[in-house]
Amino acid sequence: MLGSLTLRRALLLCALSGLAAPLVAQEGDRSGAEVYKQLCVVCHGENGDGKGLIQLDRPARSFRDGGFSFGNTKEAISRTVAAGIGGTPMPGFASMLSESELEAVAEYVIAFGPERPPSPDAAMQLQVLDRPVVVRGHLPRVAPNAPDHPRGLLVGTLDGLSWEYAADDLRLLAVRQGAFVSREDWKGRGGTPLKPLGRIVHLRAGGTPMTEFTPMYPQHIASAVGVSLAYTRQLKATEIRDGRAWIEARIMKKEQPIATVREAGEAFSLSTVAGYRRTFEIERHTDAPLLFMAHYSNKGIVEQLPLDNAGFLCFVREGEDSGTVYFVQTRTVLDYHADENGVSIGVPADARTAGFAVNVLPLPSGAQEAWAQIKKEVMP
Ligand code: HEC
Repeated sequence: MLGSLTLRRALLLCALSGLAAPLVAQEGDRSGAEVYKQLCVVCHGENGDGKGLIQLDRPARSFRDGGFSFGNTKEAISRTVAAGIGGTPMPGFASMLSESELEAVAEYVIAFGPERPPSPDAAMQLQVLDRPVVVRGHLPRVAPNAPDHPRGLLVGTLDGLSWEYAADDLRLLAVRQGAFVSREDWKGRGGTPLKPLGRIVHLRAGGTPMTEFTPMYPQHIASAVGVSLAYTRQLKATEIRDGRAWIEARIMKKEQPIATVREAGEAFSLSTVAGYRRTFEIERHTDAPLLFMAHYSNKGIVEQLPLDNAGFLCFVREGEDSGTVYFVQTRTVLDYHADENGVSIGVPADARTAGFAVNVLPLPSGAQEAWAQIKKEVMP
């Protein structure tokens, strides 16, 4: 049967065997070996060499050489296993494993690898330990053709993700995963950029996304005559609340505040794909039109599906068989729109406050199959 299992069937098998055991930590938390056998062997192989039962386009990592892109400590690996790895077949297991099972399977995975020498002195390396960390500073370019950001904001969250924002207008540039940041600026020479250490799991619009809060659909702005209608987004404060880092900003139309927006990010996964979630809380100060551009492109929407009044699901094509799924969940009734220009969410003028979450699931090749799976899981 080797190699003949489809990815979906294999995942179903491992999900079932996982569910056969209690979800909530009870007296019998499974050992690292048991968890590994039930949930990981199918892709990573009996002895951790990455040769599992199923063939993946993007092979699962061999644990035998010990080179982990997202950190090699027990803490780092259990975070990776909980969150999954966006844009790869590695799903997140946060809802299936208890804290102690995560740690146990992380230790089990580490044991496949070689003895590790103690890590070199990392005096400048800033880690995210028990609370999110927010760092302001000069961010280097996230992609060869993207600009650097002398006023950047880097947020490290507890799930091992880091979030790079251009601080002048708080556009999210990229989401990384792994170690947090090296404070090269601590070397004492002014202007030295920070060095984010994580691997990019989602680069937004090639590292140059357009402004996110706008009065109307962007191509209409471009064709509007007269004064510029674009809004700016000014950073007001950052706050750690409920273990999350909230970024507070004011949306301004020239000198006039239109709304206050709070945003927090975290890992998000469904049973077969991993990604991230941006949660927004909006408080309006005027009834000026207000639109959030979750995505802007001219690549084309493959499919969009409303979820009653609770949000929508849509798939944007990016390559032959790759793309990004946006799964928007709303607390209040919002207007949404997806077409070849992008994916946007409108806050109705009569809504004083609004809340929504944008879940982003970057899909590697094999996106069509993943999309079918996501629809099944999300649609009521
Ligand atoms: C559906 C297949 C699949 C399953 C099931 C799976 N993985 Fe993975 N895993 C992958 C793939 C693919 C990668 C490599 C991703 C990449 O390209 O970086 C990976 C990468 C990893 C990494 C490497 C992270 C790093 O720092 O480089 C760890 C650790 C890991 N998996 C642990 C686990 C554990 C523990 C389980 C079971 C609880 C598990 N995986 C289940 C497919 C899977």
